[in-house]
Amino acid sequence: MSKPPQAQDAAAIPRHIAVIMDGNGRWAKKRGLPRMFGHREGVKSLEEVLRACDSIGVRWLTVYAFSTENWSRPEDEVQGIMGLFCDTLDRKRPDFMKENVRLKVLGSRAGLPQKVLARIEENEAALSGNTGITLCIAFNYGSRRELLEAAARCAASGKAPATEEEFSSLLWTCGIPDPELLIRTSGEQRLSNFLLWQCAYSEFYFTETLWPDFRREQLLEAVRCYQARVRRFGGL
Ligand code: IPE
Ligand code: IPE
Ligand code: MG
Repeated sequence: MSKPPQAQDAAAIPRHIAVIMDGNGRWAKKRGLPRMFGHREGVKSLEEVLRACDSIGVRWLTVYAFSTENWSRPEDEVQGIMGLFCDTLDRKRPDFMKENVRLKVLGSRAGLPQKVLARIEENEAALSGNTGITLCIAFNYGSRRELLEAAARCAASGKAPATEEEFSSLLWTCGIPDPELLIRTSGEQRLSNFLLWQCAYSEFYFTETLWPDFRREQLLEAVRCYQARVRRFGGL
């Protein structure tokens, strides 16, 4: 029997997909709209991509939503993103409950407004008993800060980690497997301080598609591309 066109080889479905959701501002600009319209449309892409990942058996989806460098943007955009993030967590909570989605927010809690911290803590706690796909939102995330804080914790404990696993357990991504596939939208081909340690052997997929236009079909195409890769991990 021939496979349906979107069939995926279950054995090669990445367990963890990480996404740098880029291009929201350009999406809005192309339409003569304020940048926040792009961020709001981007939330729809996230909802669709999460559902698509869940439907093909991905267990972890990590998305880069706000970097430690994004504070340098104009105040109204920063405030807009903070508000959109909180509103989205609250609005999606009943759906996540129904769909068994677990939530983790990765990043520095220091520097986040108290009201944002409260939304994070409350929503993470409410969804912590779920056992389906885990949505990790990297918010106020920067890989160098993550590594620096881990190094500081090592120094404070007076003990250097003996293994890579031990060091990994000091990162914000503790307990999360490394992503097999990293996607960046909007044509940029850089990591922008995202998961520097964790992506040591990830497959990278870059697409010109702007994040608000990246939906289920584009996600499936990225996974198909991943499935055609040969991963050698330094071997033959
Ligand atoms: C990504 O879209 C979302 C965030 C960084 C918050 P951008 O806002 O970077 O959109 P572009 O890259 O300016 O188009
Ligand atoms: C990376 O995108 C951060 C997020 C997607 C949240 P940026 O738009 O901030 O990255 P640069 O400035 O193009 O490197
Ligand atoms: Mg950008």
